[in-house]
Amino acid sequence: MKGLVLAGGAGTRLRPLTATSAKQLVPIANKPILFYGLEDLAQAGIADVGMIVGDTAPEVEEAVGDGSRFGLKVTYIHQSEPLGLAHCVLIARDYLGDDDFVMYLGDNLLRHGVSRFVASFEEERRVASVKGERGPSAQILLARVPDPQRFGVAELGEAGEVVRLVEKPVEPPSDLALVGVYLFDASIHEAVASIRPSARGELEITDAIQWLIDHGHRVKSQVVEGYWKDLGEREALLEGNRLVLEDLQPRNDGIVDANSRIEGRVVIEAGARILNSVVRGPAIIGERTIVEDSYIGPFTSIYHDCEIVRSEIDYSVIMARTKIVDAGRVVESLIGKDVTIGRHDGRPRALRLMVGDNSRVDLV
Ligand code: DAU
Repeated sequence: MKGLVLAGGAGTRLRPLTATSAKQLVPIANKPILFYGLEDLAQAGIADVGMIVGDTAPEVEEAVGDGSRFGLKVTYIHQSEPLGLAHCVLIARDYLGDDDFVMYLGDNLLRHGVSRFVASFEEERRVASVKGERGPSAQILLARVPDPQRFGVAELGEAGEVVRLVEKPVEPPSDLALVGVYLFDASIHEAVASIRPSARGELEITDAIQWLIDHGHRVKSQVVEGYWKDLGEREALLEGNRLVLEDLQPRNDGIVDANSRIEGRVVIEAGARILNSVVRGPAIIGERTIVEDSYIGPFTSIYHDCEIVRSEIDYSVIMARTKIVDAGRVVESLIGKDVTIGRHDGRPRALRLMVGDNSRVDLV
């Protein structure tokens, strides 16, 4: 079994952060989203991974390398334009050969990984082949969600079999969203070659799986255990950060001065300095970051080489090399790399902003 990880695409919903960098590399608890998926695949016993990359290929390739640090052999497959999830399968045809594979969307996060999901598919196919029967051609993972219109949605029959799949339906037939992890055998290649682009101009994997159903293939489904998050939007990303921080094991590899207080589960990474400050976990402070005369509240991840001075930050994700000085209280924020937030005392007393396209600033 091989892996196919999708790390291309446009990431329009996380602009401006993703105007210049890959959304799959936004850190969750100071680790790029994409790394969680790669670790899940390695844990499920997968050794060979094809990785779809687009415009942000250099950044993704630099972060992931040859995959050996995850125990994987990663082969990059370039997609010229984000033409859909099924298009990714189409261009990975040569790499995948006739092997079964697990397709993992690079912006998805699963609490319990994919080991059980992969094992049950392999076992069912093995049993079927021993009996001389045809096993399932695909297995999908589903999660109950309050807002199914934002996802692919499954309709199940009386025996729990998948009867219909629709992509982002206005009137969802159920609350069962398609999770971004799919298992396929080689029959998916005929399916992706047979479908046409959807109204949004993409070759949808949902339509390819529907094609399998319509052509007599068995498609199994399983409901996820533990949380699942599609981290494509700010709220979901902050929520994903919260969920991962909930499981944090405290550690201090940095320096905490005598005037500071660390409460609850906090990770202080190597070279970080906490000076005259309070950090209330769960929270993580990245390598070489300085927190001075400040308060860092629960569910906050501050990445490497940041400076937080005379500010209070809560329930937020702050990316690399960002400086936040005299900022008052900052909550529920997702702040990109190399950002400076400060205060000036000159006239006119006004906000001075340099904010990227598609940003959001809430003033009080
Ligand atoms: O997260 C689950 C959802 O993922 C499913 O419920 C939907 O059925 C499925 O279509 C997908 O929906 P999204 O609209 O969230 O997919 P998105 O465009 O965000 O792409 C998912 C990942 O795949 C993301 O990491 C970017 C990558 N990608 C996407 C496209 C369209 C590519 O690498 N190439 C592409 O052409």
